Order: sequence, then structure tokens, then C-alpha cells
Amino acid sequence: MILDLAAAALRGLDPETAHRATIAALRLLPKAPPPLDDPRLNTRAFGLALANPLGLAAGFDKNAEVFEAAPGLGFGFVEVGTLTPLPQPGNPRPRAFRLSEDHAVINRHGFNNDGHAPALARLEARARSGVVGVNVGANKDSADRVADYVAGVRTFSGVADYLTINVSSPNTPGLRDLQEASALRELLSRALEARASAARRPPLLLKIAPDVTLAQLDDIVRVTRDAKIDGMIVSNTTISRPDTLRSTFANESGGLSGRPLFALSTCRLAQTFLRVEGQFPLIGVGGVDGPEAAFAKLEAGASLLQLYSALVFEGPGLVSRIKQGLLTRLGAEDALFSAIVGRRAAELAAEP
Ligand SMILES: Cc1cc2nc3c(=O)[nH]c(=O)nc-3n(C[C@H](O)[C@H](O)[C@H](O)COP(=O)(O)O)c2cc1C
Repeated sequence: MILDLAAAALRGLDPETAHRATIAALRLLPKAPPPLDDPRLNTRAFGLALANPLGLAAGFDKNAEVFEAAPGLGFGFVEVGTLTPLPQPGNPRPRAFRLSEDHAVINRHGFNNDGHAPALARLEARARSGVVGVNVGANKDSADRVADYVAGVRTFSGVADYLTINVSSPNTPGLRDLQEASALRELLSRALEARASAARRPPLLLKIAPDVTLAQLDDIVRVTRDAKIDGMIVSNTTISRPDTLRSTFANESGGLSGRPLFALSTCRLAQTFLRVEGQFPLIGVGGVDGPEAAFAKLEAGASLLQLYSALVFEGPGLVSRIKQGLLTRLGAEDALFSAIVGRRAAELAAEP
């Protein structure tokens, strides 16, 4: 409740200042013990045991500064990053816009982060509690982007509960070309090689854009299945702009997230689920802003969920509202999670 009020106050600031203030506050706050989740929310995916299926998406804790606060906020897991080998400033500000009328955000941060080293030091010092994924990317000026991902896998294999290869940010020119079949095959094979020679071998996931065509999605799933990676995250932000947007910021360039991303990202999730045929689990992300949206993502094929933008509008109380709502829906049907996952994939795979 107090945190929700703080979130409301922060909405008076520009988005990036508000975000920095939130990170600073979370660093200072004493770590609250995680609320004990109803056992019906406990779940397993990628060989990990989670208190609940709801995660804090990448981009919130880019530098691995506040991941230890995530369980106290009610999340079952958190994904830090995107981290690139070298620090880089990202694009000039302003580079994040709150589309309040649309419950959406547009960002063109461009992987601003402090690089691998400080994040690694913080992750090495962590008490091994909570589930923390590490999302890795490539420096904008890198001469060998694949080598940057390989460095990410090598650097964080020892400390990550899972690793995410992020080839889907729209804000690093050319990055999403790594989703093309031959480039992706090369990238995944080198990333898996790096993991194979590491002392610890965390699950390796691929995060994709919602803007891929169906033909591209066919290729991506074929390559990921052949490579035998452990899972996919669907999806990152979109460069498309639904014509329903009302905010004056709607035409800012960058990736759109939040409520207007829900339909597209859920459709791509369902289409991915149908193509993966159970070979690995999926994380569904994009526009989760309440229990209905969360439930629909599960029905579209997500085993786990992530969110970011809705926190900006709803505050952290959203997390427990979603969990409570999921329990109510499951209770009403007397169903287990496993029975829900993907059961409406065929229907939800229809283009919005
Ligand atoms: C300000 C902002 C920064 C983000 N930065 C990253 C990032 O560094 N890496 C990444 O994989 N996704 C990043 N994302 C995308 C989110 O992880 C998520 O995929 C997307 O926002 C859709 O979820 P949402 O609608 O719940 O926000 C960012 C999103 C926002 C709003």
C-alpha cells in the first residue's frame, strides 16, 4: 500500500528520473522477507523451483542492483540486464515516455548499462536465495556481436539461475537481424558451446521480438529446437504502433510495451507454443496488467510470466493482486497450472 502510494508520487516525475529514484529506494529499503505464497502458486520450470510464476522482466534492474528486493515485492523470479560486456551510455535522453492514456511505455534506452564487471561482483556476493536470471546483449559498437553474447554466457554462468540471449531489443541497430535463421544458428551454437565449457550450466533462453513474421517464427523455432536450448521468452517491446494509441507520445521512436502490446505478444506466444510442441517451456511477457491478462498468457502457452510496464501505472500492489486473481481462477476451475498452460493456444494464435 505504502509502495503503491510511492509509485503514484513517482508518476509525477519523468519516467527515467522516477525509475532511478525507485532503484535508489529499493537499494536502501531493508529487504522484506518474501510473503509466503499459497502452495498452489509454487511451480517448476527450467529445472528451477519457484514460489510463484510471476517474474520482474529485464530492463528494470539493468545493472543487478536490486534483484534481492524482488521476492519482497512478491515476485517469484527476476531477470537482470540487459548487460553488455563494456559499459555504454545508451541513447540521448529523453529516451523513455509514459503513455498514460494508453497504459503504455515507449523506450529507446539502447542498452545503457555499467557493463559485466560490476553486475558480476554484485551477483557473486548474493545470498543464494530467490531465482535470478541474467539477460545478456551486445555492445552497440562491438566488432563481433556474437562474441559479446559468448562473453555474457561465460561471465554469468557461475551466478545465474538462467541466462537469456536477448536478440530482440529494437534500440540497437541491426541487433534483431540475429533472429535470422543462419545468424541465430551460429549465435546459439557458440553460446551453448560456451556454456558447455563452464563449471555451472544454467538453462539458456532466447528472448524474441513480437515483430517477427510467421515465416521468421517458423525458422526461429526450428533453430531453437535443433539447438536444444532450454526455453524462449515471448516477447520484447514492439516497434509497431496500434492505431488505438491516444497519447501524444505515440509516435516517439523506440519499443512500445504495456497494455497495447498484450494482443500482439500473446498471439506470438500462442504461435510459438504451437510450434515448440512441448520441447521446452515459454515465458510470456507483454502487457500483463492484471489477473485476466496473466491467465490468458498461461492459456496461450506460458509456463512463467513476466511484467514491467504495468508496475509503472499500478504500483507493486499489482503483483499480489495478480497472484490472488490467479488463485481464484484456478480455484473456480479446481485446476492446476499444468492444465491451463496452452489450452487456448490454437484460438489465441489467430492474428489480432
Ligand atoms: C524502460 C524499459 C526498459 C527495458 N529494457 C530491456 C532490456 O534491457 N532488455 C530486455 O530484454 N528487455 C527490456 N525491456 C522489455 C521488457 O523486459 C518486456 O519484454 C517488455 O516491456 C514487455 O513487457 P511489459 O509490457 O510488461 O512491459 C524494457 C522495457 C522497458 C519498459
